[in-house]
Amino acid sequence: MIQTLQWTDAGVVFIDQTRLPTEEVYVTCRTYTEVADAIVTMIVRGAPAIGVAAAMGVALGTRDAKAATAAELLPQFEKICDALAATRPTAVNLFWAIRRMKDRFAALVATGKSVDQIRSTLIDESKQMHAEDVAACVAMGKNGAALLPKTGGVLTHCNAGALATCGYGTALGVIRAAYEAGARFNVYADETRPFLQGSRLTAWELMKDGIPTTVISDNMAGAMMQQGKIGAVVLGADRIAANGDVANKIGTYTVAILAKEHGIPFYVAAPWSTVDLATPDGGHIPIEQRSPREVTHLAGKQIAPDNAVVENPAFDVTPHRYITAIITERGVARPSFAESLARLAG
Ligand code: MRU
Repeated sequence: MIQTLQWTDAGVVFIDQTRLPTEEVYVTCRTYTEVADAIVTMIVRGAPAIGVAAAMGVALGTRDAKAATAAELLPQFEKICDALAATRPTAVNLFWAIRRMKDRFAALVATGKSVDQIRSTLIDESKQMHAEDVAACVAMGKNGAALLPKTGGVLTHCNAGALATCGYGTALGVIRAAYEAGARFNVYADETRPFLQGSRLTAWELMKDGIPTTVISDNMAGAMMQQGKIGAVVLGADRIAANGDVANKIGTYTVAILAKEHGIPFYVAAPWSTVDLATPDGGHIPIEQRSPREVTHLAGKQIAPDNAVVENPAFDVTPHRYITAIITERGVARPSFAESLARLAG
C-alpha cells in the first residue's frame, strides 16, 4: 500500500504529492511548522490525510516543546494547535483531528499525567487515528462496492484515493473494493484543474494497482456521459453539512449537474470525520481561495497574460439534491440526508 504519511521518530514522513507522478520522493517534516507548511503547499493533501497529518504535527510539536510541567506545556500546545488549524479552512477533518488531540490533552492533564506521559500518549493517539482512517476506508469500500456498475465506466474527480487518506482511499477505496469483488469497469479520471490531482495522482495510484484508467480534461466529462461511457460517478468530500450538501474539489458541482442531466448516479464517499453536523448547510462551509499562480501557470510555465485577473476557489458546494447517496464507514446515507445522516450519527 502507498505510504501517504507516517510517524517516525525523526518526524512525519510524507510522499511529496507535488512531485508525483514523475518523481516518487519522500520528505521528513521534523517540526510542527514544517508539517503545517507541508499541508499549505499540498505536499500532503486530501481531507482525511491532512487531518491525520495535523494530529501528527500536534504530537511532534508537543514532543519537542520545552516544558517540565503540564502548565508550562499548555500555552505551547495551544500555539501548535492554532498553527496547524490555520493551514487550510475547508476540510473539516483538520479541525476534527485537532479537536480530538485537544480533548486527549485535556483528559491527560485532568488526570494528573506527567509531561512525558502526555507526549507519548499524543503520539499514540495520532498513530491510532492513522490506523482508524485506513480501517474506515476499507469499510467504506465494502459498503459502497455493490453500488458501482460491473462494467462500463465510472467517473471520479480530484483524488480521493490512498494519497488523500492514510491508505486505500474513500472514492478510490470503493473502486478498489468493487474491483476486488470482480467488477471490471474503466475509471475516467478528470484531470482536475488547476492542481491536476486527477491526472497526476488518481491516474498514478490506480495504474499502480492495474485498474484501467482514462484521463480526461475536465471539460470532456459531459461528452463522455452523453456518449454513454459513464455508469456512475464516485468522488470524495472535504466537508458534508447536516443537510447533505457537500464541499469538494472545485468542479464537483459541475460534474453533479452533468450526472443529473444524464440520469447517472452520483455517489460521495467519505469517512465520518468529514461529516460536520454542526454546519447546517453548504452555504456555511468556508471555501479556501488559493494563489492565482495555480491558474496562471502550468508546470511552471505562464499560460495567462501578466496581471490577468484570476479566481481560484479550491472547492465548490454541491447541493444535496444532486447526490444519490453518501457512502461512509457507518453505512450508506440516502435522501433525505438530514434524517439519514442524523441516524448514522447515532
Ligand atoms: O485540495 P485537495 O487536493 O486537498 O482537495 C482534495 C479533495 O477535494 C478530495 O476530493 C477530498 O479531500 C476527499 S479526499 C478522500
